Amino acid sequence: MTGNTPASPWDELPVRDELRGKSPYGAPQLDVPVRLNTNENPYPLPEPLVERIAERVREAARGLNRYPDRDAVELRTRLAEYLTRTSGHLLGPENVWAANGSNEVIQQLLQTFGGPGRTAMGFEPSYSMHGLIARGTGTGWIPGPRGEDFTIDVAAAERAIAAHRPDVVFITSPNNPTGTAVPPGTVLALYEAAQAAKPSMVVVDEAYIEFSHGESLLPLLEGRPRLVVSRTMSKAFGAAGLRLGYLAAHPAVVDAVQLVRLPYHLSAVTQATALAALEHTDTLLGYVEALKSERDRLVAELRALGYEVTESDANFVQFGRFADAHEVWRQILDRGVLVRDNGVPGWLRVTAGTPQENDAFLDAVRDLKKEQSA
Ligand SMILES: Cc1ncc(COP(=O)(O)O)c(C=O)c1O
Repeated sequence: MTGNTPASPWDELPVRDELRGKSPYGAPQLDVPVRLNTNENPYPLPEPLVERIAERVREAARGLNRYPDRDAVELRTRLAEYLTRTSGHLLGPENVWAANGSNEVIQQLLQTFGGPGRTAMGFEPSYSMHGLIARGTGTGWIPGPRGEDFTIDVAAAERAIAAHRPDVVFITSPNNPTGTAVPPGTVLALYEAAQAAKPSMVVVDEAYIEFSHGESLLPLLEGRPRLVVSRTMSKAFGAAGLRLGYLAAHPAVVDAVQLVRLPYHLSAVTQATALAALEHTDTLLGYVEALKSERDRLVAELRALGYEVTESDANFVQFGRFADAHEVWRQILDRGVLVRDNGVPGWLRVTAGTPQENDAFLDAVRDLKKEQSA
């Protein structure tokens, strides 16, 4: 406490030094008619699935006096089947691990392979939670380079890996917030660079892969025991509220994360709900096609309006460039549409919503353009 200024309760708490003065992660949750800011799937779950979830959860409720299956074996088996079916790369439950959202998967990976005295690297701008989870787990964070067009320049990235020798390297494909897909050749080169430098773990975050024009990087797992692919049911499956993320990797990685996972971390209700959703993958992925074509429409219409748009393989689009992106964010918000200012200078990000929501967004930016040219 200095002079007469009362200390805030924060100052009285023995919070870790690296957390002092920091803000928690979170997009603004504002009550506006059109919310296109958190890359959610705009379509509610279909009614037959809602019924199936209710059935499965009712069944699970009868056993809630007991702890859930700690190893979530049935769920991991169904997830492995889904991955095998969609990627053609054979995986079993021993290759798959599930947690409360891919954020928890990433946290468990950093608790296992990062931690005090170790470092992780990601190519920025990218998903900021990688750095924040690193901080939360006491892992040092090293921002790696990305090109002007937001692709990863292999030579520059290899140099950064060789110079810093991080213990964990994150590659987000498609990348958030830019939408940029990472070609398999780049992942292979960076995996090799990471092995030569340490060897380190390489985590490919495929949260948006179902929306991509290209293929999953899952087949690259073959013969690469330090490669991990993380996935989520929050985006393509339209189940952000469920909190279910998962990883695919060599069985040794799945064994290793057991050392840090909390016992019974995945509730019986979560497991039952996710199993119900996996019975309806075909219907859920049907919405993905609709969202992909809406994403492509947003790209085309924004370009026709004269905006710069980054190539997108995700369910969102990065557009610019603006002298003051935050001011434009506010002007779009004034027109009833919430998009995301990720702090990338000159750029904003809009999530592909329903056709009506996207029309509302396009009307808002058209109106803005008209006002600017008046
Ligand atoms: C690249 C990326 N990875 C992971 C996540 C976290 O997803 P989950 O809801 O599974 O925790 C997000 C969420 O926006 C994301 O953008």
